[in-house]
Amino acid sequence: MPDQAQPGTTGKRVLVASATGYLGKFVAMAFKRRGYWVRVLTRSEERLHSRGPFTAPAISRDDVDDIFVGELTRPETLAGLMDGIDIVFSSVGISRQRDGLSFEQVDYQCNRNLLDLCRESSAKQFVYVSMQGAEHIGQLEITKTHERVVADLKQSGMDYRIVRPCGYFSDMGALLDMARKGRVFLVGEGNNRMSPIHGRDLAEVCVDCSEGSETEVEAGGPDVMTQREAGELAFDVIGKPVKMTVIPLWLAGALVKLIRLLSKQFGDLAEFIVVAGEIDGVGPPLGTTSLRSYFERLAAGDPDA
Ligand SMILES: NC(=O)c1ccc[n+]([C@@H]2O[C@H](COP(=O)([O-])OP(=O)(O)OC[C@H]3O[C@@H](n4cnc5c(N)ncnc54)[C@H](OP(=O)(O)O)[C@@H]3O)[C@@H](O)[C@H]2O)c1
Repeated sequence: MPDQAQPGTTGKRVLVASATGYLGKFVAMAFKRRGYWVRVLTRSEERLHSRGPFTAPAISRDDVDDIFVGELTRPETLAGLMDGIDIVFSSVGISRQRDGLSFEQVDYQCNRNLLDLCRESSAKQFVYVSMQGAEHIGQLEITKTHERVVADLKQSGMDYRIVRPCGYFSDMGALLDMARKGRVFLVGEGNNRMSPIHGRDLAEVCVDCSEGSETEVEAGGPDVMTQREAGELAFDVIGKPVKMTVIPLWLAGALVKLIRLLSKQFGDLAEFIVVAGEIDGVGPPLGTTSLRSYFERLAAGDPDA
């Protein structure tokens, strides 16, 4: 274990509990770059050391100060996790995982377990990533569980920070992948407005939020556009004719019901995608990377896009 007497130039030690995730990987690197001593929690060292989806960085042993292998669903594996920690960052949640676990078991219970450990430790601050607008969308499992964590944090007596991001560039990368294959599928007409943000930019927002005094921060990228415009941009960048297929909302709703019969987790996720395709998701433009420049770098095969 690295020398505990060297807590980085800020004098603070941070635990990043989601360092294998798209956002968490950028956040671990951002805290380190900004002079923090960084411990990462992972259930898979291999995933930590590999690149994540859509240019999320690989994290080597030399990039961070300590690697703790444990599972948030099994608190008995977490003894010592909080030792010496001042700040906890979590964007733990389900996106593409196929563990068969629910939002309740991961998005809520994993973060609740983390919060319980925090309150018995030296940690003073908990930075949690919810979602832009989640507090106004009560009908979805994912938003409900995010906001349960937020409510618990507010009641915990800890110094808390809530980051509420708009859609991530990882989802926009998926759009570019569809365009490369020749057709983009839209749920609904795709006329809802959004301001997606790069994970690298959002990571800086997360560190700023930890250091600042505002307890809740919404964050979007520099461009406001519709889903349809983002799809058109993807085709433009790769130089292919625009081909889009609209999945009407009535059909998407029926598919959600069907998927839910097979798997509650995927049904909940599909419902989120349908609802997100109907509502605007625009936040303050705190990110600086434009979607066009990201698409151009992705299309050119730049691993650090
Ligand atoms: N995508 C968006 O547009 C968007 C927008 C706003 C907010 N958000 C929220 O931001 C958060 C992070 O999103 P992301 O795209 O960075 O997600 P991600 O890449 O899937 O990362 C999620 C993290 O949670 C961990 N995790 C998931 N299931 C776990 C389990 N059963 N036990 C322990 N750890 C588990 C993952 O670890 P493993 O690698 O081991 O699975 C990973 O470190 C989510 O809560 C999401 O709802 C997303």
